[in-house]
Amino acid sequence: MEKKIINIAVIGAGSMGRTHSYAIKNIPFYYKDLPFLPVCHTISARTAEKAEKMKEDYGYLYAETDYEKIISNDEIDIIDICTPNIFHYDQIKRAFEHGKHVMCEKPLVVNGEECEKLEKLLAQYPDLVHRTVFNNRHLPVTMRAQQIVEEGRLGRILSFRASYRHSSATDKNKTAGWKQNKDICGGGVLFDLGSHVIDLLSFIMGGGENEFESICGLSQIAYPERKGMDGEIWKTNADEAFYALARLKNGACGSFEVSKVTVGTNDDIYVEVFGEDGAIRFDLMQPNFLEFYDNTAQKEPYGGYSGFTKIECTQRYPAPGGVFPSIKSPTNWVRGHVHNMYCLCNDVFSGTKSHPDFNDGIKVNRIMDAAYKSSVSGKWENIF
Ligand SMILES: NC(=O)c1ccc[n+]([C@@H]2O[C@H](COP(=O)([O-])OP(=O)(O)OC[C@H]3O[C@@H](n4cnc5c(N)ncnc54)[C@H](O)[C@@H]3O)[C@@H](O)[C@H]2O)c1
Repeated sequence: MEKKIINIAVIGAGSMGRTHSYAIKNIPFYYKDLPFLPVCHTISARTAEKAEKMKEDYGYLYAETDYEKIISNDEIDIIDICTPNIFHYDQIKRAFEHGKHVMCEKPLVVNGEECEKLEKLLAQYPDLVHRTVFNNRHLPVTMRAQQIVEEGRLGRILSFRASYRHSSATDKNKTAGWKQNKDICGGGVLFDLGSHVIDLLSFIMGGGENEFESICGLSQIAYPERKGMDGEIWKTNADEAFYALARLKNGACGSFEVSKVTVGTNDDIYVEVFGEDGAIRFDLMQPNFLEFYDNTAQKEPYGGYSGFTKIECTQRYPAPGGVFPSIKSPTNWVRGHVHNMYCLCNDVFSGTKSHPDFNDGIKVNRIMDAAYKSSVSGKWENIF
């Protein structure tokens, strides 16, 4: 069978450019007998040297620094945006204008005005596939958590709690990078880590009555001064930690906390959701296990069958996945990125809408906007 070639241009040659390149190249190993073949077509960086190096290292066909040349190249099917956040909106817009399918890293955009402009753009290009990279959705443990809620096993959701903690900003002598600079990141740790947590909670708890309604946020800068990228003293202008209380439309209440100033952490995402009939919890540092509590289970005698059950969520991807590595193998962070890329290519091949798409990304941005607004006003803010 002749496979349909899907040519992808990756924009941005940093850590996510590398991760996405891995995902594109490795899809045929993880998914069997695909009718399409994703190809690393063009890699883009700010300098020709960097782009050329990525081309050589990862086997791209072309290296290019001029974005306009990439989007006007008829060979390219998908523009995959892995640049710092302030560039996302303009790059998406130009790619749509050239009829390209677009995937973009989180956070999708940087403010409410860009959310509105992007919504209008989406209405103009209904046939183009768009996808926001929320890779944590694509692990068996998070997919199973979402299913259990959807199956109604938790009943009415009453509360939730989540956190995402890094220790990357605990060293006060470390030079501030662009993710700590609001002018490039658009926000601070809320944008960088909070976008993942908000999306995970939204995905798992589902839409409708379980959507976020209002939020109360508190932001923290632990180190007001750092060494800047130019070696001079630089004043921290973006949150290094963010704490939020939130209410859902159904009245459920909960909290989330994101931080880069938590010593002893690595890439620690923790989520728990409590309903009337059950609860789920997981820790993505242990991504092979989901814990489920069935509140309807018999509790007598001596505890009966009550208690959290540990569900094995190893590499149990449905067909055409599940072939490599075997379903009994442990899963990991990069596997979520590979599944994300597979879903994008499959949607482009079959002409189906992607999930999560840009509407999901916009929803997350609006929640973060309300959280920042609250951290300034000191009041609860509604999410529109
Ligand atoms: N989903 C995830 O797991 C995850 C993890 C980290 C970062 N991210 C997101 O990915 C994006 C990139 O982050 P990163 O960690 O790869 O950053 P990075 O700093 O490692 O890489 C960014 C790259 O973009 C290049 N660049 C900057 N402006 C450009 C332009 N106009 N055109 C082309 N290239 C340009 C830079 O030179 C750099 O190589 C951000 O939106 C970030 O929030 C997602």
